[in-house]
Amino acid sequence: MSNVVIVGVQWGDEGKGKFVDLLAQEIDYVVRFQGGNNAGHTVIVDGKKAALHLVPSGILHEGKICLIGNGVVLDPVVFVEELDTLIGQGVDVSPNRLKISSKTHLIMPYHKVLDKARENKLEKGQKIGTTGRGIGPCYEDKVGRVGVRASDLADPDLLKAKIAAALKEKNVLFTALYGIDALAVDAVFDEVMAVAPRIIPHLTDVSSELEQAWNEGKSVLFEGAQGIHLDIDHGTYPFVTSSNTVSGNAAAGSGVGPNKLDRIIGILKAYTTRVGEGPFPTELNDATGELLRTSGGEFGVTTGRPRRCGWQDIPVLRESARLNGLTDVALTKLDVLSYMDEIPICARYELNGQETDAFPFPAVLPDAKPVMTAMPGWKCDISGVRKWEDLPEAARNYV
Ligand code: IMO
Ligand code: MG
Repeated sequence: MSNVVIVGVQWGDEGKGKFVDLLAQEIDYVVRFQGGNNAGHTVIVDGKKAALHLVPSGILHEGKICLIGNGVVLDPVVFVEELDTLIGQGVDVSPNRLKISSKTHLIMPYHKVLDKARENKLEKGQKIGTTGRGIGPCYEDKVGRVGVRASDLADPDLLKAKIAAALKEKNVLFTALYGIDALAVDAVFDEVMAVAPRIIPHLTDVSSELEQAWNEGKSVLFEGAQGIHLDIDHGTYPFVTSSNTVSGNAAAGSGVGPNKLDRIIGILKAYTTRVGEGPFPTELNDATGELLRTSGGEFGVTTGRPRRCGWQDIPVLRESARLNGLTDVALTKLDVLSYMDEIPICARYELNGQETDAFPFPAVLPDAKPVMTAMPGWKCDISGVRKWEDLPEAARNYV
């Protein structure tokens, strides 16, 4: 099989893990290229159920090599916890099949403190609703050229100097602005050094690993996290995550040329969900939304938060197709809608008295009105259907 990128085309939680899992049978390498443990994938292989946040979903398939690229932000403590869970389940997580780029930035204890302190301080309406995992502050330090990289774990003096420099600034924020305790350099250093010996053996040059893989005729799957409308540039800014979630970042975030990305598969749910704050024009804030949430089991894997639920938004999907260069799409959770007589979808938007096919820019989104149409439902259980022809006509029309 050729090389494949998997991305979510809504606001995350589209079921990406399931497709990585399905395709993992046919590929040799699985690479994560952005995000961190803000992601959450539940995968079940051979009766083993695992909630993965950082380790690529391919790890549960014997013989697959899993790589964490330079574009990821890695919490070393969480990584080691995930390793231990997997080891407890009898999964092979040895350094020859689970590798981390030396260039990957580390989420430090102070990033997590800052993420939560900031969110607490923001007024309602301004809160982002982050996962509190330190993702944003870690990417800030990376772009600000003061971040800690995985390779620094092997140089304790450099690591300590970086922590001291970071805390010089961050402790001022903690005490003077947020009214919380300062962190001690030694405590942070000790916490990170305690897990360093578990991480160092996994460090490698991911870009060269991939080149070698291709020289041997192997195929690679790039596993995206979050969704396109959470992209730092293209999403509903500022209610977004702090990385580029678009398919193009699969190249930059793992150190390969864009010509290596053969197929781009966009994963979407049959309806829409979102966790955290931010615009969501087709959201249902009523009993209909509650029914959709319980029918679809829409509760977060990472934070346990109930997901906001609403109807399918075609302009959102149209924009995603353009931003990613989608070659394929995969639809999940169609069976969840089987109870419905009619299924509303947002076909386009009305803005200033005019209809548009485009998803409106965030600044004018509050003034835009979704133009809804309703598709007939199919009212029968389709969860066992395995072939397109066996789907009821109404379900095929909806797709
Ligand atoms: P997967 O990979 C859904 C959301 C958060 C918040 C915003 C910013 O499981 O689809 P962050 O902690 O990243 O700074 O939070 O992004 N968010 C996700 N929503 N699925 C995810 O990942 C998400 N990762 C982050 O809820 O609104
Ligand atoms: Mg998730």
